[in-house]
Amino acid sequence: MNALVLGFPDGNAAARRFAAALDLSCGTVEVHRFPDREALVRISGSAPLVFLYRSLDDPDAKLIELLLAASAARDGGARRVVLVAPYLAYMRQDKAFHPGEAVSQRVIGRLIADRFDGLLTIDPHLHRVATLGEAVPGIATVALTAAPLLRGLINADRRPLIVGPDGEAAQWTAGIAAPLGLEVLASTKQRHGDRDISIAIGEIGRVRGRAAILVDDVISSGATLARAAVLLRDAGASSVEALVTHCLAGPEDLARLSTAGIDRVSSTDSVDGPTARVHLAGLLAEAVRATAAFRLAGA
Ligand code: R5P
Repeated sequence: MNALVLGFPDGNAAARRFAAALDLSCGTVEVHRFPDREALVRISGSAPLVFLYRSLDDPDAKLIELLLAASAARDGGARRVVLVAPYLAYMRQDKAFHPGEAVSQRVIGRLIADRFDGLLTIDPHLHRVATLGEAVPGIATVALTAAPLLRGLINADRRPLIVGPDGEAAQWTAGIAAPLGLEVLASTKQRHGDRDISIAIGEIGRVRGRAAILVDDVISSGATLARAAVLLRDAGASSVEALVTHCLAGPEDLARLSTAGIDRVSSTDSVDGPTARVHLAGLLAEAVRATAAFRLAGA
């Protein structure tokens, strides 16, 4: 066997779909936690080319497990180890916003670049750097967008307004709205704390009596979309939905989004959960087939 996908117990269904889309076997990475919480990682097989599949929501323990799994794959004979991380954490802290802060994107990007030969991800939060290769330097990197898949969930006949909750969302609202010829409302956001946010939506009066669809790359606590939804409802939106690539929110955060006036949240299966209505396996597999650096020389 030339190539193998290895998934972790969390997110294993998505790893299996990815493997199936490439006609590859999917093995498992077992993780044992010692009483002191140290991890022991055991892989169920290896191959010359290994795709380690894991989203990095709740990232700290997962990163250590990934590094151990990559090392085990190499010990088992892998000549190339590619990380498939549909959700890539630590990309938002791309500068020191306050004196003394670590630039997490740079640290984690280099860590991944040191241990993997390639990285495939979806809609990484790149704001002050233009390409994923700048954040994860020196290896083959491919960043895809889920916009075409999320767009498929929209009923364009209703002419909904597409709303970005902050300036950074413009890259995602454009990818969703432009091909459908839908209008976009842009916003500015100020973050005062993890869940303390103020937002101003430009030309918000246009939403009166219309359906609004909030589009963002990620829901973390949900505070951003909750605040935007309250403003849209107050301005007379007839309905409010949310489309995001990555939904990291837990049940309580999702309940708060509903209370804020969001009728439905939809996301990809980058993170498993009740909002994951879109599977990424086909898109990821297509990118693997199209990228020479994700294959073995001569294969
Ligand atoms: C940040 O700019 C991102 O695009 C999201 O808007 C943000 O991370 C969402 O976080 P939360 O759900 O905690 O407001």
